[in-house]
Amino acid sequence: VVQPVIMAGGSGTRLWPLSRAGFPKQFLVLGGHDSLLQQTARRLAALAGPGLGVAPALVVGNEEHRFLILDQLREAGLEPGTVLLEPAGRNTAPAVTLAALRALEQGGDPVLVVTPADASIADETAYRAALQQAVRRAGDGEIVILGIRPDRPETGYGYIRADGPRVTRFVEKPDAATAQRYLLEGGYFWNAGIFVLRASVWLQALQRFRGDIAQAVHVAWGARRADALFVRPGRDEFSAVPAESVDYAVLERCPGVLPIGMEILDAGWNDLGAWDAVWQTLPRDAAGNATVGDAVVEDCRNTLVHASDRLVAAVGLENVVVVETPDAVLVSDLGRSQDVKRIVTRLGREQ
Ligand code: GDD
Ligand code: MG
Repeated sequence: VVQPVIMAGGSGTRLWPLSRAGFPKQFLVLGGHDSLLQQTARRLAALAGPGLGVAPALVVGNEEHRFLILDQLREAGLEPGTVLLEPAGRNTAPAVTLAALRALEQGGDPVLVVTPADASIADETAYRAALQQAVRRAGDGEIVILGIRPDRPETGYGYIRADGPRVTRFVEKPDAATAQRYLLEGGYFWNAGIFVLRASVWLQALQRFRGDIAQAVHVAWGARRADALFVRPGRDEFSAVPAESVDYAVLERCPGVLPIGMEILDAGWNDLGAWDAVWQTLPRDAAGNATVGDAVVEDCRNTLVHASDRLVAAVGLENVVVVETPDAVLVSDLGRSQDVKRIVTRLGREQ
């Protein structure tokens, strides 16, 4: 039996003003009918097939979003597994550790399919094939990460150097010059942020590389409280866990030390990191304009106009994104989408 784990505790600040502290990216509907969380949970449920059982997904999220998580899963007709609630995010390594401890508590040593809640996948058949292969390999003790063929020197991703199915190097978020060099050199893939391994393999790897995090999460887990819907680690204990991502804490340190492999994910993956990436996944007119909601464009090229609450009209714009919400409007150069994060930082928590 495979245990899906959905990491749903991030903040998705670059999709402001649609993504908010109280309603971050993973809960948004960005094209189609389902939110990213709902799409993720459905895709994971569909991994089941002959000879492969899939347990209801374990979702690890923030206390503040507990009802959003439950409501969205139920609305999608998905049976919620346990929802693990963090009092405050300590990044992904502690989140995965909570999920691994929970999975072991439920018996056996299941293969975890750990996935972000904030990417879109166009080709579900290819997704399923890659993951089923990864699950087979992980059953034998391997750590399997999914690689995307890169098409630009993006610095927001992890880079995987692979020699056939074997990972020889993992570099999280390299600087621009390094990313450029990897692209020219070839043989590198982007980390999709999805990884597959047995629960015990995760705990051992973390213990080996970041024993401090492993210890601290164990303490918080020991102080957990569970009710019918939610499991919460000890509040103060969890808040004391060092914050670190899976990528820095474990994946970067594995090559040459622990068996780590890669499956290529050739499935139209898009991590919807910023508005330009969302624009790419939306249907566009012949001039490259994407409109969402009550929006009209006249004589525009390569725009994204997203209306939530009011009618929004644009004339003569090129390479611009407009996002309207009841209390905030963003107007940005499409090519500067990454910098929306700077606005959110300036606005602080009261975005
Ligand atoms: N439960 C929980 N708690 N989830 C979290 C937390 C946390 O503290 N922090 C982030 N997440 C969730 C996010 O909601 C998202 O679904 C996922 O974990 C990944 O976190 P991001 O913050 O989006 O990571 P990233 O985009 O900077 O980098 C990761 O993803 C890239 C691909 O999109 C890395 O894995 C990169 O190597 C990778 O290329
Ligand atoms: Mg991300």
